[in-house]
Amino acid sequence: MAPEVAGERLVGLARYGRVHLLDEVGSTNDYALGLAGKHVTSIVVARVQTGGRGRFRRQWFSDEGSLTASLLLFAGAPDFPRPSFLVHLAGLALARAVEQTAAIATQIRWPNDVTVGDKKLAGILCEGRRNAVAVGIGLNLNQEQLPEDLPDAVSLRMATGKQWDKFYVLENFLREMFAGIEQTGNGDSAGVLADIKRRSSIMHRRVEVQTLLRRHVGTVIDLDSEGRIVLRTDSGRLVVIGAGDARKVR
Ligand code: BTN
Repeated sequence: MAPEVAGERLVGLARYGRVHLLDEVGSTNDYALGLAGKHVTSIVVARVQTGGRGRFRRQWFSDEGSLTASLLLFAGAPDFPRPSFLVHLAGLALARAVEQTAAIATQIRWPNDVTVGDKKLAGILCEGRRNAVAVGIGLNLNQEQLPEDLPDAVSLRMATGKQWDKFYVLENFLREMFAGIEQTGNGDSAGVLADIKRRSSIMHRRVEVQTLLRRHVGTVIDLDSEGRIVLRTDSGRLVVIGAGDARKVR
C-alpha cells in the first residue's frame, strides 16, 4: 500500500510537481529518472525502498521509518543552477527543512550530508539523465534505533525524542529547494553559499578528503563559488576538490 498522506498535505506537495506515492520500489531515483521523458517536475515518495543507493554506489539503508524521496527537475532554463551547485543547494534545503520541522540545529558535512552533532541524519544523491536531474533524499526520521553497523548515524526521532510526519518534512524541503533555486536564478548564489559555509561542519577544520583517486589531508580554508573545497594540504599546497568524502581529523 502506498504511504498514507493527509489530503491537505498532498495539496501542499502537489504545488511543487506531480506526486507519485509508491509502496515499494528499488530506488526512488531510478523511478524518477524513468519519468524523465514526460518532462514534468515530479516528486516520488516510497514507503519502502529495497535497493537504495548512496554516493559512490554505496548501499543506502532505509526502512519504513525513513523518508525516501526524489525530486525530478529539468535543467532547461538558462538561470537553472548547474548540477554541481544543485548538489549543495539540496543539502542546504534539507538542513533548513529539518530545522524548520523540529527546531533542531543541523550542520552540513561536505558535500551535502545533513548532520546533527556530527552524526549523519540524511544523505543526498543527485543523478542526471540528459537534462533531467533526480535529487534523491534519504532521511532517518522515525527510527527508535538504527542498525549497529551505522554507529555514526542518527534519526530525527533519536535526536528529538519525537515522531515526525515525513510529508511535512518533505514539503518543507521542497519549499526550501525551490526558494534556493530561485535565489540562485536571481543571481544570489553567493547568499546561498554563505549559508552553506555558515552551516558547514568542516570549514576551517582539519580534514581528510577521499576522492575517487586520492586521499588529501589538510585544512579547509574555503568553499569556492561552485561549492568545491579549497584545501591547504599539510604539505602547504592548495587543492580544489569537487567530489569526495570529507571527515574531520585531528
Ligand atoms: C549518501 O549519503 O550516500 C546519499 C544517500 C541518498 C539516498 C537516497 S534515498 C532516496 C534516493 N534513492 C536512492 O536510491 N538514493 C537516494
